[in-house]
Amino acid sequence: MYFSLPEEYREANAATLNNRIEEARSRLGHRLCLLVHHYQRMEIVAHADYLGDSYALSKLAAGQKDAEIIIFCGVHFMAESADVLTSDQQMVYLANPLAGCPMADMADMADVLEAWEYLKPFGGADQFMPVSYMNTTAGLKAFTGRNGGLICTSSNARAALEYAYDRRDKVFFFPDENLGMNTGNQLGLKPEEMVIWDFSRQNGGLTEDEIAQARLILWKGHCHVHTNFTVDQITHIRQEYPDVQVIVHPECIPDVVDAADGAGSTRYIVEYCEKATAGSVIAIGTEVNLIHRMAEEYPDKTILQLSGEICPVCANMYRTTLNDLAYCLDHHADLKPIRVPESDRADALLSLQRMLEIG
Ligand code: 13P
Ligand code: SF4
Repeated sequence: MYFSLPEEYREANAATLNNRIEEARSRLGHRLCLLVHHYQRMEIVAHADYLGDSYALSKLAAGQKDAEIIIFCGVHFMAESADVLTSDQQMVYLANPLAGCPMADMADMADVLEAWEYLKPFGGADQFMPVSYMNTTAGLKAFTGRNGGLICTSSNARAALEYAYDRRDKVFFFPDENLGMNTGNQLGLKPEEMVIWDFSRQNGGLTEDEIAQARLILWKGHCHVHTNFTVDQITHIRQEYPDVQVIVHPECIPDVVDAADGAGSTRYIVEYCEKATAGSVIAIGTEVNLIHRMAEEYPDKTILQLSGEICPVCANMYRTTLNDLAYCLDHHADLKPIRVPESDRADALLSLQRMLEIG
């Protein structure tokens, strides 16, 4: 899909765009709700009605009973979830409709269905539960709901796996192998109980014995932003700043999570920075826009980028500009909202509601 803004929006300067955005916001009043993810650019965050991690934003979307127009500044799977969680009368727009998530794209529907059909007999009837990370298409959320499973985000992955193991012996987790393994480690699963399903290989590249022993089958997917962080970076930053506290997102590889002082969702990272005492030195392993914002909001603390010179930017989150937001606000009535097909809505809703119930 090629999407280019009209010149009037493409060429406008920041002051003009900010004015247009504010004018549209006051024109639309309570009819509008602007949901913004923590990784968005600072200038977009400034216009948020609500700012949050993917869990908080889905809860907020579900709670918007009055807003007719919901504009999401984030990535595609987040806007899809908001659509599923709101009524048919409410329209959800993604401020930049090209903003996707490469990790979500790593779990292709046909590949997941093929894996599921192959795996099922190893657990006996109904012994596998699919648990899907929020970063998936709505089609896969529907697959998850249909098969008794639930969605999780980085803030409730542990509770989601506990929910699953209370009901079934084995979990099929996709698409982030790192979040899955970090959570399995938290629950004390043994290394041989966690195996990686490599969708590019025959039978996931696993032997029958490996599958039979496994309690957690992890899809071979990852976030290209969070896998930039390394244990070496942690070692170096500890040498340079002996009092540093290292906190990372659980999409980082397990060795990095183990070497860090704390790991959690973007909300956890924000709250960590908020609560740290003045003078604290904190090195963060997550998306760079959030790190920069924390550094600006807390000048009394030293907030550093864990990766030093390597810039961990999510190009898709960065795609949404003031130009896009101004255009979307002014022209939403002519734009196509994000609409999950009717055939998937009910089952996707089921999997998301199960998530909201576990909190
Ligand atoms: P959060 O669930 O922490 O908001 O993370 C979403 C995400 O895409 C992280 O890369
Ligand atoms: Fe996807 Fe990674 Fe960007 Fe999050 S940071 S939206 S997982 S690519």
